[in-house]
Amino acid sequence: MNQEIERRRTFAIISHPDAGKTTLTEKFLLFGGQIQVAGAVKSNKIKKTATSDWMDIEKQRGISVSTSVMEFDYTPDGKDIEYKVNILDTPGHQDFAEDTFRTLTAVDSAIIVVDGAKGVETQTRKLMTVCRMRKTPVIIFINKMDREGRDPFDLLDELEQELEIKVRPLSWPINQGAKFKGVYNIYEQKLDLFTPDKQRVTDKVEVDIDSEELDQRVGEENAAKLREDLELVDGVYPEFDVETYREAEVAPVFFGSALNNFGVQELLNCFVEIAPSPRPTKAEERDVQPEEPKFTGFIFKITANIDPNHRSCIAFCKVCSGKFQRNQPYLHVRQGKTMRFSSPTQFMAQRKSTIDEAWPGDIVGLPDTGGMFKIGDTLTEGEKLHFRGLPSFSPELFKYIENDDPMKAKQLQKGIDQLMDEGVAQLFVNQFNNRKIIGTVGQLQFEVIQYRLENEYNAKCRWEPVHLYKACWIESDDPQELENFKKRKYQYMAKDKDGRDVFLADSGYVLSMAQQDFENIKFHFTSEF
Ligand code: G4P
Repeated sequence: MNQEIERRRTFAIISHPDAGKTTLTEKFLLFGGQIQVAGAVKSNKIKKTATSDWMDIEKQRGISVSTSVMEFDYTPDGKDIEYKVNILDTPGHQDFAEDTFRTLTAVDSAIIVVDGAKGVETQTRKLMTVCRMRKTPVIIFINKMDREGRDPFDLLDELEQELEIKVRPLSWPINQGAKFKGVYNIYEQKLDLFTPDKQRVTDKVEVDIDSEELDQRVGEENAAKLREDLELVDGVYPEFDVETYREAEVAPVFFGSALNNFGVQELLNCFVEIAPSPRPTKAEERDVQPEEPKFTGFIFKITANIDPNHRSCIAFCKVCSGKFQRNQPYLHVRQGKTMRFSSPTQFMAQRKSTIDEAWPGDIVGLPDTGGMFKIGDTLTEGEKLHFRGLPSFSPELFKYIENDDPMKAKQLQKGIDQLMDEGVAQLFVNQFNNRKIIGTVGQLQFEVIQYRLENEYNAKCRWEPVHLYKACWIESDDPQELENFKKRKYQYMAKDKDGRDVFLADSGYVLSMAQQDFENIKFHFTSEF
């Protein structure tokens, strides 16, 4: 069992849209033997066939809405350990950022892709906030070095400042853009020469950094600059230490070009070697160690309907401890029911198949024929464990949702409840007028909800505007003050789906005044507090 745990690497590749996440994922799959030729699964195809050909709406829009999993075995050259790599894919569109946040609760580490010309972008910053909250170790891949980009030292400064994490370069670029010559791999102490080619793997040469050969290979000027840069790197950044990386205190940085398959295998090799194997998972009751003999797991994601003719979803379960086995009785803690799963699935790059067992770190797909699971549900062999709630973020867009077909009120209610359980968006019920408000992080989610209500629940909804700035969860140690607050703001008080108090502020000014006037009330911007 320990061996199975040790060899697993469960992680997500995250980035701002267009930085190169899909391209990098494709190249990883290539090394994992899951696809044969680079380019065979071009970015669009990978989004559609490999990961999530699952919703009509995303076919129509060409946007990857669901999150899925890609698994492969990988043995780096010259090593005798076969790693089991689980990549959790995340939606490419930022309107579905919440999905990505949730996926990050199921990974043991992450690779962040940054566009070398653009540096840190909004989405990168948000995703890193989640990694910091959960102390997830990250490796940064600076992509598109074949294009004219920024000075690497400036980029590293920006990463440290904007992502609030110390960095340590493990490779170093030699020039960039049209003059890009390759990278010096500090981790392996090798020179990787660049030939622009999508199919080939990097040319590696062992060259002493002070030798004549370096000058011959990359040109005198570049060689001199490289020596100077490397000296500066060693002076500025402390030596790389695996433990500080695993404690999420330092992020190793690699440079390369995913499109040209350059620096990718080096990244993968270093990743499997240093990235953590499955880590303990925090439950409300205790920390659960992956080596524990009894199976435990939690649901971090529920997909939309795979087959529109049958209302069935797939719940993604991360195995936290023990061995998951097909047809074994497991306790669904929230429902207090024992269940058996006869067709749990695993996901290969382009297909899924039924499995008999899974180990900590693995993701198992459990078919859900309707309302069985909610995000955050726990499965065990009997123990009443509750894995800690997954955070919901304060949404940014709000609309009233109204029934547009009086005959279908029940269907609408059911649809809204199930979509909220899936975590598609957040529902707040205004306590003053009892109207339902849906909060999202992106405009598209409203369209997805409307589409799915119609197609899956046969219900019609209509959106009406509501002017709100933010919804925040409130709590206080002083019950009197909490009551006063709720009385004073009674028109703006709502309950979330778990019945917690939420304050709906209609402007930034109102919110900051409220924070000033009610010092003993805490205003939370994520639901995990
Ligand atoms: P994403 O998943 O993070 O959104 O990014 P994706 O991989 O789809 O890449 C976005 C664009 O950047 C794609 O171009 C891709 O080919 C390009 N790209 C990725 N890596 C590199 C690189 O190392 N160098 C350069 N120069 N470009 C890179 P596109 O034109 O949007 O799509 P396509 O027509 O090439 O498929």
